[in-house]
Amino acid sequence: MNLWDKGFEPDRLIEEFTVGNDRELDLSLARHDVEGSMAHIRMLQSIGLLEKEELDTLLEGLEEIHARILAGDFRIEDGVEDVHSQVEFMLTAKYGDLGKKIHSGRSRNDQVLLDLKLFMRDELKRVSEAVERLFNRLLLLSDEHKEDLMPGYTHLQVAMPSSFGLWFGAYAESLADDMQMLVAAYNIANQNPLGSAAGYGSSFPLDRGMTTRLLNFADMHYNVVAAQMSRGKTERAVAMAVAAIASTLAHLAMDVCMWICPDFAFISFPDELTTGSSIMPHKKNPDVFEIMRGKCNRLQAIPNEVALLTANLPLGYNRDLQLLKDITFPATDELVKCLDMAEFMLRHIRIRKNILDDKKYDYLFTVEDVNRLVLSGVPFRDAYRQVGMQVQRGEYKPTRELHHTHEGSIGNLCNDRIRDKFRSVINRIS
Ligand code: ARG
Repeated sequence: MNLWDKGFEPDRLIEEFTVGNDRELDLSLARHDVEGSMAHIRMLQSIGLLEKEELDTLLEGLEEIHARILAGDFRIEDGVEDVHSQVEFMLTAKYGDLGKKIHSGRSRNDQVLLDLKLFMRDELKRVSEAVERLFNRLLLLSDEHKEDLMPGYTHLQVAMPSSFGLWFGAYAESLADDMQMLVAAYNIANQNPLGSAAGYGSSFPLDRGMTTRLLNFADMHYNVVAAQMSRGKTERAVAMAVAAIASTLAHLAMDVCMWICPDFAFISFPDELTTGSSIMPHKKNPDVFEIMRGKCNRLQAIPNEVALLTANLPLGYNRDLQLLKDITFPATDELVKCLDMAEFMLRHIRIRKNILDDKKYDYLFTVEDVNRLVLSGVPFRDAYRQVGMQVQRGEYKPTRELHHTHEGSIGNLCNDRIRDKFRSVINRIS
C-alpha cells in the first residue's frame, strides 16, 4: 500500500526497481524523520491546522516510534515504500484519520530533504570527532618525536633532514585544512528546507522560522526552489569534505606502507597488528594500511559519482536523487572507521632511532653545509659549487649540524599554533 494510493497498486516489478535498497538506507533516517515530524506538527498546531489535543496525541505516538527506533525495534515493512510512509502508516494504524493529518503542508520531497540535512549534520559531527581524535594522536606523536630525525625526500631521492616530529605534524596540520571543507559542508547542511514542500511551497501559512528554531538549524533555505536544489548540492559538499579527509589519510597510509618496508624500516608495529602470508613464513605485512589506502582512494571518487548522478537534472525533484543515499551513506561511516583505525594503529607505532647515522644519508646535510658557508660570507652560488664539487669527488663530509629555527621547521614545529588553528576550525561546528 502506498501513501499515494489512488485505487491502483503499481506492478511489483516497478516497485522493486524503484525502491531497490532504499528501505534499508532509510533506516538511517528514521530517527530524524520522526524528529522532523514532531517539529512540523508543533508548527501545524501553532498555525491552527491541528488542535492542541490532536498535537499531544500525535506527539505521544511519535515519541513511541522514536523510542522503538532507538531500541532497534523499527522496520520498514515489505510493500511500504519508504521510512516516511512507514511512520505515517504506524500513526494511522494507531489513531485512524488523525494520523493522516501530519502531512498537511509537507511533501515527501521536503521531508526526505529535511531528514538528510539532519542526518548529514550528525554524520559530519561524527566525522569531525574522529578527525579530532586522529589529530590529537598525530600532534602528540609529533611532540614526542620532535628530536627523532628521518630522511626527507624529493623525487623519492634523499633530499634534506626531516623528522618524525615534522612527519606526524604535517598530517595533523593537513587535517586542519580538510576540516575547513567539512565546516563548509556542515554549514550547507545546517539549513532548514522544511516548508518548501514539493519544491514550490504551500498555500498554508507555514511558520518556517519556527521549525528552523525547533530543529536547531542555523538558518533556512528561503527560496523554496533553492531548498529543493540543495538536494544533491548538500551531498556534493559532504562528498567533497569526505574526499578531502580521505585523500590526507590515503597519503598517510601510503607513507606508512613505505616506511614499514624492510628496505626503509623506519617504523614498525607490534606483530599482532600486522598480517602474514600463506606461503612466505617471514612476512609481516601492513595490510591495515593497504586496506585504508584503498578505501580512502575509493572515497575520493564519490564527489565524481555525485556530480555525474546529478548532472543536468531538470529543476525540481527527480527520483534519481534517491540514489544519492547509496553513495553518501556508507561513505561517512567508512571514513570514520578508517580514521579510528589510523588512530588505533598510531597508538602502537614504533620509531627507529638514529636512522640518519647510516652513511647513505650523509648527503641530507649538503644544504646545511652550503648555508654555513653562506653565513661565513661566501656567495650562495660559490658555496653551492664548493659543496657540489666535494660530493662529485667523493670527498664530502657532513657536519651534521642543524640550525632550522624558523616557524614550522625541524627545530621549531609550532605545534601549539597548529593546535590553535585546528580548534578554531572545529569550533565552528556546533
Ligand atoms: N525515497 C524518495 C527519495 O529518497 C522519497 C521522496 C519521494 N518523493 C517522490 N516524489 N516520489 O527521494
